[in-house]
Amino acid sequence: MIETKILSANAHPLSRAACIGGGVIGGGWIARFLLAGVDVQVFDPDPEVKRIVGEVIANAERAYAMLTHTPLPRRGALRFRASIAEAVADAEWVQESVPERLDVKQRVLAEIDAAAPATALIGSSTSGLLPSDLQSGLSHPERLFVAHPYNPVYLLPLAELVGGKATSRETLSRAQEICESIGMKGVIISREIEAFVGDRLLEALWREALWLIKDDICDVETLDDVIRYSFGLRWAQMGLFQTYRIAGGEAGMRHFLAQFGPCLKWPWTKLTDVVDLDDTLIDKIAAQSDAQAAGLSIRELERIRDSNLVEIIKALKTGHDGRGWGAGRLLADFECRLESRVAREEAAQFHQPLRLVETAVPAAWIDYNGHMTEHRYLEVFGKATDALLRLIGVDLDYVAGGHSYYTVETHLQHLGQARLGDKLTCTCQIVAADEKRIHIFQRIVSGDSEAPIASAEQMLLHVDSHAGRASPAPRAILERLRPIVEAHEDLERPAVLGRSIGVKRADLSHQDLPPR
Ligand SMILES: NC(=O)c1ccc[n+]([C@@H]2O[C@H](COP(=O)([O-])OP(=O)(O)OC[C@H]3O[C@@H](n4cnc5c(N)ncnc54)[C@H](O)[C@@H]3O)[C@@H](O)[C@H]2O)c1
Repeated sequence: MIETKILSANAHPLSRAACIGGGVIGGGWIARFLLAGVDVQVFDPDPEVKRIVGEVIANAERAYAMLTHTPLPRRGALRFRASIAEAVADAEWVQESVPERLDVKQRVLAEIDAAAPATALIGSSTSGLLPSDLQSGLSHPERLFVAHPYNPVYLLPLAELVGGKATSRETLSRAQEICESIGMKGVIISREIEAFVGDRLLEALWREALWLIKDDICDVETLDDVIRYSFGLRWAQMGLFQTYRIAGGEAGMRHFLAQFGPCLKWPWTKLTDVVDLDDTLIDKIAAQSDAQAAGLSIRELERIRDSNLVEIIKALKTGHDGRGWGAGRLLADFECRLESRVAREEAAQFHQPLRLVETAVPAAWIDYNGHMTEHRYLEVFGKATDALLRLIGVDLDYVAGGHSYYTVETHLQHLGQARLGDKLTCTCQIVAADEKRIHIFQRIVSGDSEAPIASAEQMLLHVDSHAGRASPAPRAILERLRPIVEAHEDLERPAVLGRSIGVKRADLSHQDLPPR
């Protein structure tokens, strides 16, 4: 079972956001908010903004379909407004993502400050301007902070939260909580400095890289290979210091510092000198970069980047001991929030089978017949069962406490086929339950069709895993289960319940089986 905890029913603190600026970064924020179920109002004077934002949302939806099987909440409503004042009028969070110029940002922020509700948080996407400079002149400077994201904002989950002199501590904690609710990790930076932490690091690396190209030590492709085949892989999961701790061997960080610290003073770095980006160097880098892209357009590269990021984050979700690590652990937590939000959205939904998994069929699931291969059906049903268990409180902590539900019987029927890219939804109906058992019936449908392409009937048994035998589930679990069971009593019982293998139609008995 995947790492999770059932989150409180009030775990979604944001309903309405405004995005001022809908370019590369603004578009990413818009997609991040919408897919987390938040309504977004946008102002951007660019006449092309609807198209640009639409393309970013399409990319984000494609990426999320690959990233998670958890049904997303109802997508937030997107509205484009004719002015900043209209866009921010009822916002709880306003995210400013206009061009990186202090005068432009100050003008825009003053307009936001004048029109937004006094309680609204105002985040700036600036890559390096000081929040103290951005908040000077505002009537509510305490709610202004930097929320510096990384591109693509809908996939990369970090926001550096930086307060200025007038920013209140409460603003930063609320921002951090809201980030969590939309699947982001908001890290609070202790003190404001230009370019914060991430861009400081990136610029140091970039400065040195430009020297290496200028001095013909390598070309851009070789330099990128050096990163992506080596420490780039390490950084995604452990960052810098934890990686170096391990590199220090058994003596750890102290040994690493003693061994490699002095090298920093050797004359092999040009980090403090800035290379002159003259036309010759620009032409050289641009030409090498064109050759490296090998004809791929920016949009194609974006899709390649997104698919790879998705797989890296997914790998980190099951990494470590299956409980997830880093960005993967964050995704697992976000999925729990989404599940509980979807469950709340459909609170009256208990009178229908629970919609527990949504996914698009990836290439890895296709077999030699060009269809989704058989064990993937069980994988989808298994994920739905996990989601049901999480919904009633059977999470990893519960399992670690020595109790769980085990699947003791499965009857799976293949009724149709799924092909690459098909959108699958898995629903679960509780047929019956008692203190020890949950009898469920699940269906997978493809696209908008109502006819299932597969069904699974399963019996789940509550167990005391230490004692190694069945045991009654505790009251807390049964109380979460009860409203679903009661609502599902009104549902039609699936005709195929209890059917044995080889029986094709409900009215056939065993005697009608064809001779072997
Ligand atoms: N591109 C990145 O990788 C990146 C990463 C992190 C942060 N940032 C920061 O995000 C901000 C936006 O950068 P970007 O890359 O999205 O730029 P961009 O040029 O793609 O988008 C800026 C958008 O702002 C709009 N705009 C201009 N004036 C406006 C106004 N008065 N009101 C509303 N909208 C207005 C433009 O029409 C444009 O669509 C900058 O502060 C940048 O430093 C960028």
